[in-house]
Amino acid sequence: KFFILWCLNINTRLMKKALFLLLLPLFFFSCNHKADKEQEISIIPQPVNLKKISGSFNTDSLNVIFMGVDQAALFNVAMHCKTMFEPVLGHKIEIVKGTGKSGQMVLDIDPDLGSEAYLLTVNNNLISIIGGDAAGVFWGIQTLKQLLPPDFEKGIRMDAFDIPCIAIEDEPRFVYRGMHLDVCRHFFAVEDVKSYIDLLVLHKFNIFHWHLTDDQGWRIEIKKYPLLTEIGAYRDETVIGRNSGEYDSKPYGGYYTQEEIKDIVAYAEDRFITIIPEIEMPGHSLAALAAYPELGCTGGPYSVATKWGVFDDVFCPGNEETFEFLENVIDEICLLFPNSPYIHIGGDESPKTRWLQCEKCKNRIENEGLADTHELQSYFIKRMADYIKSKGKSIIGWDEILEGGLANNATVMSWRGEEGGIAAAKMGHDVIMCPNEVCYFDHYQSKDTENEPLAFGGFTDCEKIYSWSPIPSDLNENQASRILGGQANLWTEYILDLDHIEYMVLPRMAALSEVLWSQPDKLNYDIFVKKLQNLTKYYDARGYNYAKN
Ligand code: ACM
Ligand code: ZN
Repeated sequence: KFFILWCLNINTRLMKKALFLLLLPLFFFSCNHKADKEQEISIIPQPVNLKKISGSFNTDSLNVIFMGVDQAALFNVAMHCKTMFEPVLGHKIEIVKGTGKSGQMVLDIDPDLGSEAYLLTVNNNLISIIGGDAAGVFWGIQTLKQLLPPDFEKGIRMDAFDIPCIAIEDEPRFVYRGMHLDVCRHFFAVEDVKSYIDLLVLHKFNIFHWHLTDDQGWRIEIKKYPLLTEIGAYRDETVIGRNSGEYDSKPYGGYYTQEEIKDIVAYAEDRFITIIPEIEMPGHSLAALAAYPELGCTGGPYSVATKWGVFDDVFCPGNEETFEFLENVIDEICLLFPNSPYIHIGGDESPKTRWLQCEKCKNRIENEGLADTHELQSYFIKRMADYIKSKGKSIIGWDEILEGGLANNATVMSWRGEEGGIAAAKMGHDVIMCPNEVCYFDHYQSKDTENEPLAFGGFTDCEKIYSWSPIPSDLNENQASRILGGQANLWTEYILDLDHIEYMVLPRMAALSEVLWSQPDKLNYDIFVKKLQNLTKYYDARGYNYAKN
């Protein structure tokens, strides 16, 4: 104990980590009767190193959170911690400057640990979380929560409780750990989106890919083009089931105002989650065309789609107005998502049917010296990529952006399998892996589909996700370094509310969280399943609706 306190008071950052590592074995020699009980402690995703120490910390004495060196960066995290503990412990917790005192909690930053990394130590009289940055401290707090009784999650007054002594050293395997949500096929209220972000936090995902525009609805207010939401955010009715041919005769829609977008972006940022907005082009754009028909090859009229699928009417790249419009939209998007290094511009499933017939498109192909409509798709994406680059950001696109040649700084999101991602990595592009077989959480998670809510099809259970590696085996080390991480996608044709969202992502995102966060040598499906029994207690305490298959 003395050593840890002394260690925390040392200013040399490198020394702190060195001492932490040096002191770890001392704990085990002094209390090695507990050291073999590592798996009593159940943390998802599995940390890099986890050692149980004998003894416990009692929360009775927890009334101060010390912030170490970088107080400006740590204040929000300390506040988060205070707000989390106060209602449960039933007493005030002060936040003060300093590096720790017996019976208390200390948060600190040591940049030598690296981004998102943390050391979490609980001993009899101190809880210490040292992060490589504030995000690392925040993830350390999320780990700490899994050491507390599940009822803590209810956020209501409890008697003082013991936290087991432990030493954890942890950092993520991948920098990109994403969850996607389609709010176009069905729309989800601000509070529901925040709840979705809470799910990301619990599982240490750091990217929320927000699919904001599609054929069935445009869901983000753009001040310069009010018809996008006045017209594009609403459809007359919705097809029943999987394009049954029958419709429900009920108008449906909704959108986020810019104030609501800012509120959600701030909520995510407070939790170290970056939101990447997706504005679809050139395909999946019927809702935009319904509002501004002059941007389509035929001039319309168009209406917001009322069924699912891929539609022939897409933005016309022969028309300069299309680019003027999209650039203006991107200008507003960049202001709303200042901290995202990326804008996702879709690029998937864009038929060439209209372009082949359109005089303006034919002229564009001729004037730009393009070979065909595939190169026209590439012209479209490259032109938007250049514009977005001029705004200091880069594009992500679905793997169809490989068609006709890839834009210089494009990151490829590989969804039609892994081939697109492999090709892009071999060309030296960054890649995010989300092959539909493994990462489409709108698929069934049970073979007993009769007793499941209607889903897209397919079969993707935790075991399949858990045994997947985001790095395909045929990449060499250099190419593999291009795989930034992976993501699960949640398309919502058949998902109408938050309850159903929870059912589709829980517990599959727990399995994916270990694939994306934990080191491969720590992955063990049998142990994961055991730990899941414990994690579901936390799901229960939060009132989540999760799949029990
Ligand atoms: C996609 O699922 N169309 C990216
Ligand atoms: Zn055209």
